[in-house]
Amino acid sequence: MAEYGPRYFELNTGTMMPSVGFGTWRAPPDVIGDAVVAAVMAGYRHIDCASAYGNENEVGDALQRLFSTGTVKRCDLWITSKLWCSDHSPCDVPKALSKTLQDLKLDYIDLYLVHWPIRTKPGSHRFEEGAILPLCLPETWNAMEGLYASGQARAIGVCNFSTKKLQGLLSFAKVPPAVNQVECHPVWQQTQLGNFCQSTGVHLSAFSPLGSPGSWIKGEVLKEPVLIQIAEELQKSPAQVALRWGIQSGHSVLPKSTNESRIKENIDLFSWCIPPDAFSRFTRIQQTRLLRGDFAVHPNGPYKSLEELWDGEI
Ligand code: A2P
Repeated sequence: MAEYGPRYFELNTGTMMPSVGFGTWRAPPDVIGDAVVAAVMAGYRHIDCASAYGNENEVGDALQRLFSTGTVKRCDLWITSKLWCSDHSPCDVPKALSKTLQDLKLDYIDLYLVHWPIRTKPGSHRFEEGAILPLCLPETWNAMEGLYASGQARAIGVCNFSTKKLQGLLSFAKVPPAVNQVECHPVWQQTQLGNFCQSTGVHLSAFSPLGSPGSWIKGEVLKEPVLIQIAEELQKSPAQVALRWGIQSGHSVLPKSTNESRIKENIDLFSWCIPPDAFSRFTRIQQTRLLRGDFAVHPNGPYKSLEELWDGEI
C-alpha cells in the first residue's frame, strides 16, 4: 500500500519529531493512563504533555508500564512538556522541569516549551487581574537555554507566540526556538504565522487540531461544511481530514482522545492524502480564532486587549 507522509518533521536541532502527537489536555487523570497506553499500542510515538494539565504523574505511570512490558523504549518516544506561566523566573525554570521529569519519571524531555507569552506571580494558577506580571522573556529564555545545554531538554520552544513575539525572541535567542505550538486547524489556519515560522526554521505544531469539541472553546471545526464535503469525497471522517490537512500543511498535529477507536482513527492518516484540488478548497473556510485568550486581558495588566496579546493576529 502507498505511504503518504510525512511521518516526521525535522526540527532546527536536526532531530526528527513524529508528525502526530497524542494530546493530553483535558484528559482526566483517572483515564489518561489507559489512553496513553492505547495510543502507543496504536502507533503514536509522540505525547504532548504539560504540568498545567494536571495529569503528568499518571502519564508517567503509563510510560513506566509501557517500558516495563517492553512495548517501547524511552528512545522510541518523543515527549513534550511545558513551563507554566508562574514559573518564568529564571530560578524557577529548572525546578519546574525537574518536577515534570519527576512526575513523568523520565530523565530528559524531548521538547520543553514556554506555555504562554504570559508571566504570572509565582504559585498562581490563574490569570486574574493583578496576577499577571510583565514578561521577562530574555531571562526566562536564557534559563530555557540552560536546560537545553544540560541535555535535560533536547529541544526548546514556545507556545501561543504571535509572529511579532516570535520575531522578538529570535532577535536575542542564542538557541532559537525549535517549535511554536499554537492553535491551528482548518478554521484557524495560521497562514501568516506559518509562513513566518517556515522562513525562520521554527516548526509550527498544531494544538486543538480538531477545534477541541466539547471544551469551553466554542467552535464547530468538525461541522465545517467544506471539511464534511471533502471527508465524504475521500470516505474519511471530518477529524481525519482536519488532521491530514494539518500534516499536509507542514504542521505536526496533537489530537486528544480518551476513546480507543477515535485514538486509532486519529493516527490512520498515512495510507491516503488530500488531493491538490480538494486541498485548495480549504482556503474558502472563514477564519476564526477559537482560543482567544480573553482570560489574559485586563485593563491594568500587560495585555490590555486581545490585539495586544496576539499582536493583531485575531
Ligand atoms: P474524546 O476524548 O471523547 O474522543 P482536540 O484534539 O482538538 O483538542 O479535540 C479533542 C476533542 O475531540 C475531545 O473532546 C475528543 O473527545 C474529541 N475527538 C477526538 N477524536 C475525535 C474524532 N476522531 N472524532 C470526533 N471527535 C473526536
